[in-house]
Amino acid sequence: MDNLKLGIFASHGGSNLEAILKACKEQALDAVVKVVISNNSQSRALELANNEEINAYHLSSFKYKEATVLDDIILKTLIENDVDTIVLAGYMKKLGDKVLAFYDGRILNIHPSLLPKFGGKGMYGINVHKAVIESGDKRTGITVHLVDKDYDTGRILNQCEIDIIADETAESLAKKVLHKEHEFYVDTLIRISKGEIKLKDYISNCEEK
Ligand code: GRF
Repeated sequence: MDNLKLGIFASHGGSNLEAILKACKEQALDAVVKVVISNNSQSRALELANNEEINAYHLSSFKYKEATVLDDIILKTLIENDVDTIVLAGYMKKLGDKVLAFYDGRILNIHPSLLPKFGGKGMYGINVHKAVIESGDKRTGITVHLVDKDYDTGRILNQCEIDIIADETAESLAKKVLHKEHEFYVDTLIRISKGEIKLKDYISNCEEK
């Protein structure tokens, strides 16, 4: 199996990006991060990419007012950097129609709950964990899923469960889940790279276009 050529999108902290970079470097994961894209010029994700001399781009609606222009530029950037798989790691924007169509079946996202629970619009960051605590559930978890045009609705690829202990707060849960995400996103990518979790074939994707 060929290694994965990743295009990683992140808006803020980039701790999942950092975990993936580390796994690539240590050859635990047979993948290469070809490009990092952020809508936020100040994101740590861009800084991490620059430190590793990985192509990094700030591409945002602030720079490109027309959504279709931004979509075109993002797609061009991904193709020019030879990306075959998109990994969203804390990316707070929706991808445009052209990028979604071109990389259909090869765009992953990680969400800090057991989808379909606690997903959808407004369910990001601490909001997710507050809703989990308020629900009284005894377990939460992490979902890696495919991305389509809606929030958190694409096919689920992998999930893991995390116990909620007595006196857990949204903040303590957020910390615990994020920590586990690093290992879980890398493990899921390893399983994809080995063909244990199947994605659509990128080559046939291209041939259709
Ligand atoms: C993670 O909790 C992820 O599940 C969500 O955004 C957060 C990103 O964290 N989609 P980081 O930027 O990787 O630190």
